[in-house]
Amino acid sequence: MKKLLFFLCLGALTSCVVTKEQATERTNLTLEEKVGQTCQITLDAVAQTDAQGRTLVPLKLDTNKLTEALVKYKVGSILNVSWHTLTRAQWQEITQTIHSYYTSGRIKVPVLYGIDAIHGVNYTQGATLFPQEIGLAATWNPSLAAEFGRITAYETRASGIPWNFSPVLDLGRNPLWSRTFETLGEDPYLVSQMGAAIIKGYQGTNPRVIDSLHVLSCMKHFVGYSAAASGRDRTPAWIPDKYMKELYLPSFKSAVQAGAQTVMINSGTVNGIPGHVNKSLIQYTLKDEWKFPGFAVSDWEDFNMLHTVHRVAPNLKTAYEQAFNAGVDMSMVPLSPDYKTYCELMLQSVNEANITSARLDDAVNRIYRTKEAVGLFDLHQPVLSNYTAFGSSQHKAAAKQTALESITLLKNNGTLPLKTNTKFLVAGPCSDNLVYLNGAWSHTWQGMDTSFNTKGCKTIVQAFQEKYGVQCLFSKGLELYKDKEVEQSRFVSLEDYIKKLDEVETVVLCLGEVPATEKPGDIRSLHLDSKQLELAKMAYAKHKNVIIVLVEGRPRIIRDIVDPAGAIVQCYLPGDYGAEALVELLSGEKNFSGKLPYTYPKYDGVIEYYDRPRSVDRSNVGDFAAFNPEWPFGFGLHYGEVSYEHLKSNEVLSENSPWEITVDVINQSNREIDEVVQLYVGDEFASMVPAGEQLKRFLKVKIPAGQTKEVRFVINKEDLMFVNEAGEWVFEPGTFNFSIGTKTGSVLFR
Ligand code: BGC
Repeated sequence: MKKLLFFLCLGALTSCVVTKEQATERTNLTLEEKVGQTCQITLDAVAQTDAQGRTLVPLKLDTNKLTEALVKYKVGSILNVSWHTLTRAQWQEITQTIHSYYTSGRIKVPVLYGIDAIHGVNYTQGATLFPQEIGLAATWNPSLAAEFGRITAYETRASGIPWNFSPVLDLGRNPLWSRTFETLGEDPYLVSQMGAAIIKGYQGTNPRVIDSLHVLSCMKHFVGYSAAASGRDRTPAWIPDKYMKELYLPSFKSAVQAGAQTVMINSGTVNGIPGHVNKSLIQYTLKDEWKFPGFAVSDWEDFNMLHTVHRVAPNLKTAYEQAFNAGVDMSMVPLSPDYKTYCELMLQSVNEANITSARLDDAVNRIYRTKEAVGLFDLHQPVLSNYTAFGSSQHKAAAKQTALESITLLKNNGTLPLKTNTKFLVAGPCSDNLVYLNGAWSHTWQGMDTSFNTKGCKTIVQAFQEKYGVQCLFSKGLELYKDKEVEQSRFVSLEDYIKKLDEVETVVLCLGEVPATEKPGDIRSLHLDSKQLELAKMAYAKHKNVIIVLVEGRPRIIRDIVDPAGAIVQCYLPGDYGAEALVELLSGEKNFSGKLPYTYPKYDGVIEYYDRPRSVDRSNVGDFAAFNPEWPFGFGLHYGEVSYEHLKSNEVLSENSPWEITVDVINQSNREIDEVVQLYVGDEFASMVPAGEQLKRFLKVKIPAGQTKEVRFVINKEDLMFVNEAGEWVFEPGTFNFSIGTKTGSVLFR
């Protein structure tokens, strides 16, 4: 049989269809093999180490450790890479050696390799690095999200890896959270649309037969991880049932509908329940109600954390039983010797019937079917050198286009496009280092190691100097660093900065954040540090036109430097081609079309969202205590103006008739504009406090100079439902107000 498959698959880039014979093999697994399938270890656990136990560089597999893990403990999955970015040849060797245990018959079920290729296959040298998810969201362009997914899947496969721990579908509602940049922003509809597009890009058209140009996606992190009240990573969140259903669950539900095959569980706690024991969410909502067919993997060490950190289990064995019985199918254990303990304790638990064989079989079947879906049982795995489009110019162009459509113009008093008839100065801590453009999860976990930077990719100052030569002066002025995990900054050659300020009219000042994620990315205040603000103030004091360029994973408070700025541009973390895109936008060669995927805060103590209830807008003294962000959700300027006219809608509707809204979008300028047309709807009265407005539809349209485009949206009753006191989704007839751009209207549902 295996021989037959071999010939069928030989030379092909597509996966083979699974045979009946293979599908039934899973029932013949021994108990040890079944338990092994639920165990995931990190690559370090099977890599050669030095005398101090550190993984050797260059990374090499340790055959004895690998054999012990795969043959003795029958481990079913491996993840990650150490503090490296490997070449494709290294990946080929690693993944083929691992797969050879299956092809040679030493193990019955192939090993599933997973990696965090979250903005491109960031642990493979020469890969195409896109903007991070927050920037992707700012494009408001699901086709670009799908293209990002397709290219990343291709390059992940070209590295021999079939499973990507992406996308993050957590709602970016607390900007303090270090992983805000990994999210698609604050709005459940935007996240759902963009997330589903990424998943389709990753997995291709048929999620149960994923060919070798695509990968398994993994929805992260189910659910509520981003809502930590303190903003610090993996700390408690409290989410009432209504808001869990209305805000946090929809992106996961739409991902399941889009065919997502795996899910990773929230490391934190919600309402006092650790994500990994939340049976109500994992088993009942995700698996039973939504019919999620794939498997759930834990996050890093999270089975153990139930005992060691969250303290809901008095010992490890109970912790494993709790998580497994709540519906988590695979444990990212992932270290050695912990994985041996895991396998041994799990065996005991099954033998003692603390975990039923039905539950174990359910998990194994889910894992097994997923391995089948991604073609792992094929003896002949794709030849990596066949992936000739890896890192190609087409892929790079797509990454640059994503950056172009993402970078958002927040203010412009005429300073942009950049006047380049005289010299200008590029300065600031984020101006001369590629790692700032990529952020964490780039070449290494925290993204600070420059040694693996993609060759030929430019920093901001390099991109300017390439275009403008000696017209572009450079002085960094300040550098950022971390001391004991805390963000710090220090002035560098300040005299040079001050001297160069005198030589120019315009300053492009690049401010932002040190790359970081998870715990190392925790911050105590959203304020951008005062020295960065001082750099701007020094330029303002000399009456310069200052263009503030923000290179930041989360919106940092910059209130004190907004008013005097000539222009402000949000880059997010735009990736390897972000600098080139920025130069094309600032020079006016290309037009801006990015829109904020979050509400940009003005004050630290008041974190606000656009879909606030009306009470937030009440104010007794001026705008004190009223909604007053720095910039609203969905905001972004262009070169040139767009106006909205002729808004048409039904006025009265019966509950079940579709609601149709059309509007003319007019490009009043003499250059092409890509406009994101956004429809917001708010319930006038409801039995529970309604959101003032919610995003219900959006469409990015290209409008040639001076032309008009008609845009049409259709809304259904389902779009207007909310969760009532009993926790049920309901539609209440009545008046709904709506707006598109500057135009507003209302409709009565009888
Ligand atoms: C992160 C996950 C990631 C996993 C594997 C965890 O610490 O929370 O998002 O997929 O590590 O690298």
